Amino acid sequence: MKKKAVIMGIESSCDETAVSIIQDNESGIPKILSNIISSQFDIHKEFGGIVPELAARSHIEKIDLITNKALKESGIKLNDIDAVAATAGPGLIVCLSVGLNFGKAFAISLGKPFIGVNHLEGHALSPKLNSKIEYPYLLLLISGGHTQYLNVKGLGKYERLGTTIDDALGEAFDKTAKLLGIEFPGGPKIEEFAKKGNPEKFKLPKPIINRGGCNLSFAGLKTAVLRITKKIKSQQDKFDLAASFQKTIEEILKEKTKIAFNLFKQNNKSKKNIFIIAGGVAANKGIRKNLVELSKENKFENVFPDINLCGDNAAMIAMVGLEKYKLKNFDTLEIPVNPRWSLDKDALFLKGSGLKF
Ligand code: KG4
Ligand code: ZN
Repeated sequence: MKKKAVIMGIESSCDETAVSIIQDNESGIPKILSNIISSQFDIHKEFGGIVPELAARSHIEKIDLITNKALKESGIKLNDIDAVAATAGPGLIVCLSVGLNFGKAFAISLGKPFIGVNHLEGHALSPKLNSKIEYPYLLLLISGGHTQYLNVKGLGKYERLGTTIDDALGEAFDKTAKLLGIEFPGGPKIEEFAKKGNPEKFKLPKPIINRGGCNLSFAGLKTAVLRITKKIKSQQDKFDLAASFQKTIEEILKEKTKIAFNLFKQNNKSKKNIFIIAGGVAANKGIRKNLVELSKENKFENVFPDINLCGDNAAMIAMVGLEKYKLKNFDTLEIPVNPRWSLDKDALFLKGSGLKF
C-alpha cells in the first residue's frame, strides 16, 4: 500500500511557537500525529500586548525544542516527512522570519519540498482537520489580528465579502478586558465574566450596523467601554459590563452574518450552503451558539474547528501544506516573508478612519 503523505507544519507569525506533523488518511480527514504549541503569555502580559522583539527572541530560543518534541510525539522518522510547510505571512516580520527560515533549512536538509503558507488560509482550512468539507464555503474569520467574511471558493481562491474597518474582534475583546483590569490576552476571561453578569445593564453602540454591507467596526465600542469603566466601582459592575459587551458582539455578528449569508447565496446558487467560524475568537461559546441558531434559520450547515484548533497552531499550517502538496504546489526557497499577505488580493484596503458607507 502506498504510504500516505506526512507533512510538517511550522507556525511563528505572532506569539505562539508551534510545530505539528499530520498524515493524510483514506477518510479524507488527516491524522494529527503531533501538535505542539508553546505560548508566550508570560513574556508579554506585563506589557499588555505583544512586544515583537521579545516574541521573535522567544521563537528563536524555542523552535528547536518544539520541533524535537513534535517529531518525538509523532513517532515518525525524519525520512517519513514528505514536505515542510511554514507560515510566510501575514504577521510580525521578525517573528515570521524565524519559522520561515527554520522551515526552509529543515526542508533543504531533508531534501524535501518546501511550502510557504498564508496564516489566514491556515485558519480557513482548520475545520478540515476534523471534518470533510467541500468547497465553496462561507467563512467568518475572527482572530486577534483579523475579522473577515470570506467566500472560500477553493485552495488559494478567496473572495472577501466584508472586513473590519478598524479593530479586529479579538483586539476589541482584549482591549475591553484590559479596561476591566484583566491580563492580556483577556478575550477568554471576558466570556467567563459575562456568565456572571447582567447583559442588559449597559447599552453599548453597534457601529455601522445598518450600513456598510457585512463590513464591521468595533472602535466605537472600545470608547464606550472606556467611558463606562471610569464610572463603575464594584466587581459586579465589571461582570455586567462584560456581559453587555458579549451580548452586543453577538448581536452585531448576527446582523452582519445575515448579510454575508445573502451575499454568499447570490454567488453560489445551486450549491450546499456551509458556514464556518474560525480563528481564536471562534472559541467563544456564546458567539458559536448564536451563529448556530442563525445558521439553522437560514439553512446553512455549520462546521467548526475543534476548540483547541481555533487559536494559532501548526496543524492548520500543515493542513494547507497537505492540500498544496497534493497539487504539487511547492515554493522555491526564494519565497519571502510577507507580513501583509492578503487572502483576496483584489479586495480594497478598508482599515482606517474617515470611511463612510
Ligand atoms: O487566532 P488567534 O489565536 O491569533 C491570531 O491569529 O490573532 O486569536 C487570538 C485572539 C485573542 O484576541 C484572544 O483574546 C481571542 O482570540 N480569544 C477569544 C476567546 N479565546 C481567544 N476571544 C473571545 N472569547 C474567547 N473565548
Ligand atoms: Zn491566527
